[in-house]
Amino acid sequence: MFVKFETIAYTSQNFFMPVTDSLSIQSKLPDVGTTIFTKMSKMAHEVGAINLSQGFPDFPVSEELIDRVAHYMREGMNQYAPMPGMPALRKAIAAKLERTFGIQVNPEEEITVSSGATEALFAVIAALVHEGDEVIVLDPAYDSYVPAAELQGAIVKRVPLDSKTFAPDWEAIEAAVSPKTRLLVLNTPHNPTGAVWQQEDMERLQELVKKHRFWVLSDEVYEHIIFDEQEHQSILRFPELRKYAAAVYSFGKTFHATGWKTGYVVAPPLLMKEIRKVHQYLTFSTHTPTQLALADYLQEPQHYESLPRFYQQKRDVFLRLMEKSRFRPIPCSGTYFQLYSYADISDKPDVEMAEWLTREKGVASIPVSVFYEQGQDQRLLRFCFAKNEETLQQAADILCRI
Ligand SMILES: Cc1ncc(COP(=O)(O)O)c(C=O)c1O
Repeated sequence: MFVKFETIAYTSQNFFMPVTDSLSIQSKLPDVGTTIFTKMSKMAHEVGAINLSQGFPDFPVSEELIDRVAHYMREGMNQYAPMPGMPALRKAIAAKLERTFGIQVNPEEEITVSSGATEALFAVIAALVHEGDEVIVLDPAYDSYVPAAELQGAIVKRVPLDSKTFAPDWEAIEAAVSPKTRLLVLNTPHNPTGAVWQQEDMERLQELVKKHRFWVLSDEVYEHIIFDEQEHQSILRFPELRKYAAAVYSFGKTFHATGWKTGYVVAPPLLMKEIRKVHQYLTFSTHTPTQLALADYLQEPQHYESLPRFYQQKRDVFLRLMEKSRFRPIPCSGTYFQLYSYADISDKPDVEMAEWLTREKGVASIPVSVFYEQGQDQRLLRFCFAKNEETLQQAADILCRI
């Protein structure tokens, strides 16, 4: 490295060779800028708007859970955790998987604790995808899948979900599959639309995987935020799919602690071996006292089984508060996001509308077009209702006057 630097300096001084040849930074992600989430949250902060844009709760984490983290910190559990995660937590996750999905998972070989779902998503994609492989992403999509695939040199094929129901369009998906298809990424319950996959969808996917042989990455971070008595259709419930799938989860979402960035991935042993190789050099391991605290906290299933009711109540409060507004709700079956159409109010593009609402009216949201490859604008805004009732009330009061 030292020799190379010397050579560059010499050539550039004497022959006017551009130093930039070896030193220039050629972006691997030329289309990636500051995310809309950062932009809208910053704008909300600057103008003092109510922030319903980014997906995080504004109510506290359980005192009991915080006490457990503090307890383990004081006990001296402050050094590196084992690379795949604390054994106690992996065991507790396996018990939770058995309880919720009725499946047996080997915590030694099939579960890895990650620094948030984001790290797990990246590790799965990096472990599986090679240059030139095709990755199918369903549009609109959460923003981390595509850059992770592109960094591996993959070709990303975006397939639109149904424009009204946001259900998967199986004909379009099968048409996008080619011999180069390596991975399909799905997300249920779905951010940003709140749509959830049905059992038939998983069965259709199972047929496709069997016929065309590709891997599936299932982003299930909102597994417990699902409404109206629906059952979360985890990919792990389908034995023939599970063999070719990695499923990703987030304790940040489940326990209102997005800042703790703790999640996990479940995958079959051969794939997990490769995922762990990536995880080992991305972060090596995840915050030790938090893992131990979560292992304790998972012993009480009520801590996650109460979530559908808790968030359904918030969704219903927000819908009721918004009843008199001219915004029209799009049915939401899961996640803590509610889409509203403002087509009856304005024909501004959605990015402009979101900025106007934040600056002029004091409520921040996310324009849905940013989740699409081509920026399809259906005059929809996404509002996060993981907020205290007072926050929702204040926001709705403003929105109802528009
Ligand atoms: C669909 C989806 N996947 C993954 C994540 C990231 O989860 P984590 O905060 O655990 O990294 C989010 C966060 O908003 C999300 O909405």
